[in-house]
Amino acid sequence: MHKTVLITGASSGVGHALTQHLASEYRVIAVARRIDRLKQAFGTYANVECVELDLSDSAQLREFTQELPERYGYIPYLINNAGVNIRAGMPELTQEQLSRSIAVNAVAPLALMQALLPLMQKEGFGRIINVTSGAPLNCFPQFGAYSASKAALNALTVTAAREYQDYNIKINLMSPGPVQSEMAPQAPMTPDVAFPTVEYLLNLPADGPTGRFFWLGYEIPLFPDLDGIEWLEGRAPSRFSKVL
Ligand SMILES: NC(=O)c1ccc[n+]([C@@H]2O[C@H](COP(=O)([O-])OP(=O)(O)OC[C@H]3O[C@@H](n4cnc5c(N)ncnc54)[C@H](OP(=O)(O)O)[C@@H]3O)[C@@H](O)[C@H]2O)c1
Repeated sequence: MHKTVLITGASSGVGHALTQHLASEYRVIAVARRIDRLKQAFGTYANVECVELDLSDSAQLREFTQELPERYGYIPYLINNAGVNIRAGMPELTQEQLSRSIAVNAVAPLALMQALLPLMQKEGFGRIINVTSGAPLNCFPQFGAYSASKAALNALTVTAAREYQDYNIKINLMSPGPVQSEMAPQAPMTPDVAFPTVEYLLNLPADGPTGRFFWLGYEIPLFPDLDGIEWLEGRAPSRFSKVL
């Protein structure tokens, strides 16, 4: 019996490449809205089950997550890869665009983690990769909705990792790198550059990292060094410039 991995956003780009790559070793539950694309790509794969799901539709998401344990049992691996990048500068960015970005990029990954974590905890093993971007660290102009929604994903990931650190459950962030996809058709690399980092994160040992961010084999710090700040006392070490 193959190990099961649930991959969202499997109909194109990184998720499509990962589904193809992992299908020899894993049973893959491949999720996306465009079921025709999924079936065309993976309909002949014995190990891939194609699931039509709109992650921005809270009713569909609730129904799917409620059914998951009964339908598939214990799923030890999750790759929250689906994402949207709605570009708009501050004057044009609408609340609806921000909400939709957060729904797909942060709320849906949270819902899937919440659905799978109880059995991961019971079994004492889980490996989760939440696909983020350098955008929330760089805050590029026009990327406000994307960066904010990925920042929410980053914070949820690190928080979840800390809450589950005693259960051999590793919850990490990964950016695939600048790879060609529908979201980034002009990008210089191909999605396979992400495979080694994905394999590393899926195969982490019990004492491996959790709540961290990886990109093309590098670990990228998510936070500045905050050592020594006394938050409740309102004091920070002298290396922090005091402007008042
Ligand atoms: N490409 C890059 O350079 C790059 C860089 C940094 C991070 N990333 C991240 O990598 C991940 C994969 O992106 P990609 O570059 O492969 O982009 P992509 O080709 O546009 O793929 C996005 C995937 O997300 C799915 N998706 C979007 N909205 C959805 C919804 N409402 N419900 C269900 N599925 C939905 C799409 O499937 P359907 O349309 O069929 O639903 C598609 O399979 C994203 O999280 C992205 O932010 C990409």
